[in-house]
Amino acid sequence: MNENSVGSTNIVWHQSQVSREMREQMNEHRASVLWFTGLSGAGKSTLAHAVEAQLHQMGVRTYVLDGDNVRHGLCGDLNFSDVARRENIRRIGEASKLFVDAGVMVLTAFISPFRSDRSRVRELLGDDFIEIYCDSSIEVCESRDVKGLYARARKGEIKDFTGISSPYEAPESAELVVKTGLLSLEASVKQVIDYLASRDSALQSKV
Ligand SMILES: Nc1ncnc2c1ncn2[C@@H]1O[C@H](COP(=O)(O)OP(=O)(O)OP(=O)(O)O)[C@@H](O)[C@H]1O
Ligand SMILES: [Mg+2]
Repeated sequence: MNENSVGSTNIVWHQSQVSREMREQMNEHRASVLWFTGLSGAGKSTLAHAVEAQLHQMGVRTYVLDGDNVRHGLCGDLNFSDVARRENIRRIGEASKLFVDAGVMVLTAFISPFRSDRSRVRELLGDDFIEIYCDSSIEVCESRDVKGLYARARKGEIKDFTGISSPYEAPESAELVVKTGLLSLEASVKQVIDYLASRDSALQSKV
């Protein structure tokens, strides 16, 4: 089965009486997806959760989809092979789309190392997709080694580890590049919030 095809027959889309626009009007902000990408340890989860905390305080409806958490459930059947990573990102893209339709600001924190996978999600979400590159050198990420995974990967204990034995393809035209290897967390959060406020005038009054 092609990944874009519908696997079942006799299914008909049922149109909701409550539209996304009606939900956004009620929430008083746009829905979109902040797609954080970068090496392990670059700061995707830390930044996504800190941005979420600030947005929540501003009255924005938010939800974080985080790599390890999603792999416990929705993607619990997938490993880290290229094919499984692709399917992982496809499912996250589709789940994000549902959240956006529900009027929610989604923040995703996945390494999402392959440009083609991120492009596919961009195609799926159109203008709602905001790619945020957490730009940190492998040296900084490895020195942080938050989960002890770099040490294990260097010993050859982890196969297909991004940045060591599997490639990371940096974004070429991300909406936002945050130097998470150099900046403080506070400065990184401010950069993201300022960008969002410049994009959605409804948010400016909430900052
Ligand atoms: N500007 C910054 N933004 C985010 N994190 C930062 C920043 N500066 C330092 N850090 C630190 O870097 C580490 C990043 O770890 P984090 O778990 O967020 O990475 P990750 O990108 O989610 O990795 P993984 O892909 O393995 O889940 C944390 O210890 C965090 O405190
Ligand atoms: Mg993380």
